[in-house]
Amino acid sequence: MMRFTTYNVDMVLGDNMHFLRRFPDKYFDLAFVDPPYGIRQDGHRENDRSKLAKSKDYDKSLWDQPRPPREYFEQLERVSKNQIIWGGNHLIDLIGKRSPCWIVWDKDNSGNFADCELAYTSFDTAVRKFKFRWNGMLQEDMKNKEQRIHPTQKPVGLYKMILKKYAKPGQKILDTHSGSASLTIACIDLGMDIFAIELVQKYFEDSVERVERHLQSISHDFQGKPKENVQLRFFLI
Ligand SMILES: C[S@@+](CC[C@H](N)C(=O)[O-])C[C@H]1O[C@@H](n2cnc3c(N)ncnc32)[C@H](O)[C@@H]1O
Repeated sequence: MMRFTTYNVDMVLGDNMHFLRRFPDKYFDLAFVDPPYGIRQDGHRENDRSKLAKSKDYDKSLWDQPRPPREYFEQLERVSKNQIIWGGNHLIDLIGKRSPCWIVWDKDNSGNFADCELAYTSFDTAVRKFKFRWNGMLQEDMKNKEQRIHPTQKPVGLYKMILKKYAKPGQKILDTHSGSASLTIACIDLGMDIFAIELVQKYFEDSVERVERHLQSISHDFQGKPKENVQLRFFLI
């Protein structure tokens, strides 16, 4: 008898606080999130705009976004068993916790942008470094370059490397700041359930299209099962 597993992919448009308040305690295995850090892409603070940065501005709606309120971090910890939070070094006063296990993403970068990005984690293991080139036109896998659809998009390949270490197939993952849906695509490829929330309609629509394109491009999921086993649901609030 053939056994089918269904992986759920929920992509929703709206304010993450609206959803977070509705989930039961510890519903998700892992919240893997990438909130606005309150800085611009070049690492300067919002109130420090230079000519250099202006040429790189994609969309004012993104750079004007403030850091999440403290309640967001309380809800995140309530609804998930573990958390990985990009920009932990910019958000640590709001996270309010120490951790032995930070993630260092070495971007193999140069120029005006940061060499590395840091993520706070709730795990009790050692600091880990993940090297994955993401430097303008230069990407880690130049033969399979990822199309950029969002100004602060993180690579799917990086998300997969990190998920393989900190999550397991079949687990429930939460992304409260979905952006380009790179994490959603990584979860589809690794057979994890994902609930992804995005506030800005344009990013939401572009990312849904990206996920649909990805589903069309793969014929089998990570266990060699047909892709029909991936159940994709969208809803708008
Ligand atoms: C740093 S970007 C995330 C980029 C993402 N990791 C990627 O790889 O594309 C933050 C995203 O969170 C969204 N956002 C900001 N505030 C939000 C909120 N309250 N609820 C949901 N999404 C929000 C922004 O529109 C933006 O797309």
